[in-house]
Amino acid sequence: MPESMATNAVTYTTPGGTIENYPQLKARIEQHVGETRSQKVRLEACLKARGTASSGTKDVAGKATAFMQGLGGVFAGDEVVKGALASYAFEHMEIASYKILAAAARQLGDQDTAQTCDEICREEEEMAEWLADHIDSVVIAYLQRESSGSSASKR
Ligand SMILES: [Fe+2]
Repeated sequence: MPESMATNAVTYTTPGGTIENYPQLKARIEQHVGETRSQKVRLEACLKARGTASSGTKDVAGKATAFMQGLGGVFAGDEVVKGALASYAFEHMEIASYKILAAAARQLGDQDTAQTCDEICREEEEMAEWLADHIDSVVIAYLQRESSGSSASKR
């Protein structure tokens, strides 16, 4: 993901504590923001080595940026369950995107870019797996806070 996505994720998930009541989710998202920054550096190195930024990579990055901005809005709107839903869908979009980029790079004989995309894809799969394992606990925590009338229920 490009820097703007990482920046948005940080902006929407850390200050003001919009998901402070979900410390595990918050920590894993912050970890993934760090991974995202590293991915950007690795992808840029690949593109620099090729001497060009492929239009395919730009398209994926642009769509991902737009989506992440929307996702930030969901978290900022105190709707943590919708945010978890969007994150889960988003990670799978990234998995598919990096599989496509890896296949294209491999077909074009760019093994370094293909390997980098494979590595990034694995990080996206790990994030998606984490969400799959924890999304139920987010929902349970949300419902418990809501039923107890806590003002923090939706966060
Ligand atoms: Fe991701």
